Amino acid sequence: MGSALFILLLLLAGGASSDPDDEACLTHLYSALEDPTRSLKNWSANTFATACDGAVPPPQGATCNNGRIYRLSLSNLSLKGTLTPFISKCTNLQTLDLSSNSLTGEIPPELKDLANLAVLNLAGNRFSGQIPASLYLCAYLNVIDLHSNQLTGPIPQQLGLLVRLSTFDVSYNKLSGMIPPSIGNRSGNLPRFNASSFQGNKGLYGYPLEPYKSRGLSVMAIVLIGLGSGLLSLIVSFTVVSEQKMAAIEEGKISQLMPDY
Ligand SMILES: *[C@@H]1O[C@H](CO)[C@@H](O)[C@H](O)[C@H]1NC(C)=O
Ligand SMILES: *[C@@H]1O[C@H](CO)[C@@H](O)[C@H](O)[C@H]1NC(C)=O
Ligand SMILES: *[C@@H]1O[C@H](CO)[C@@H](O)[C@H](O)[C@H]1NC(C)=O
Ligand SMILES: *[C@@H]1O[C@H](CO)[C@@H](O)[C@H](O)[C@H]1NC(C)=O
Repeated sequence: MGSALFILLLLLAGGASSDPDDEACLTHLYSALEDPTRSLKNWSANTFATACDGAVPPPQGATCNNGRIYRLSLSNLSLKGTLTPFISKCTNLQTLDLSSNSLTGEIPPELKDLANLAVLNLAGNRFSGQIPASLYLCAYLNVIDLHSNQLTGPIPQQLGLLVRLSTFDVSYNKLSGMIPPSIGNRSGNLPRFNASSFQGNKGLYGYPLEPYKSRGLSVMAIVLIGLGSGLLSLIVSFTVVSEQKMAAIEEGKISQLMPDY
């Protein structure tokens, strides 16, 4: 009887404070971000400590489910700074949307620990470095939107293992290399992801963009066209010359036939 009451009190006390991992996640996230326009209205140690306690509303942009943060949407808030690796402490996160800010630095490979992550939208920032191959470990990912950043290197072929992926956009970065067939492949007659997912990366090639060889070929084509037109002008001038000769000979013949005066 007494122990049951004790457990009940413990449960109530437990329910009244936020998850320590979420608290660490938010604390680190906030310290790595810069908020020059003071857009994050109530982000503070106090709201982090009570983030999903159900009594106090969570900090702006955070949404809770079963006492844990499951969505963070901080889009278009003029945020600067970096995305901390401690984001991986928000282990129940399903949606991470930091799009349309000015975040810099690398996309932390630690995102792989977000086992429930379904939507990753980091589009419209200044992220650099490579796309972490380890993202393929987030098996529930169905949206990866990284367009309009400064990402370099190849598209990791492991991302093709994400069977739920329905949106994939890496356009307008500085990516290079061949689009992995597992990502750029066809489903039926259509590409799994069309060219608009890949455009705006000078070094990227392969289906559904142009195959690399066609670039080489187009250089060849220019050379061939050059050679061809050179040859053509040679033939033309040769013909003209020989026609002139013929004309001269004809004239000569005529003059030979003409009587001398
Ligand atoms: C924090 O701000 C958001 C959005 O302005 C609001 O919905 C929420 O109730 C606020 N939370 C607290 C604890 O004040
Ligand atoms: C971004 O926020 C600014 C104001 O802060 C607003 O004018 C603009 O329309 C927003 N853009 C989008 C895409 O929501
Ligand atoms: C092409 O993509 C589909 C998913 O749309 C995948 O099941 C299949 O294995 C891929 N094929 C190749 C050759 O990678
Ligand atoms: C490419 O796919 C997107 C959605 O996946 C669609 O909105 C867009 O119209 C497509 N573009 C082309 C050229 O097919």
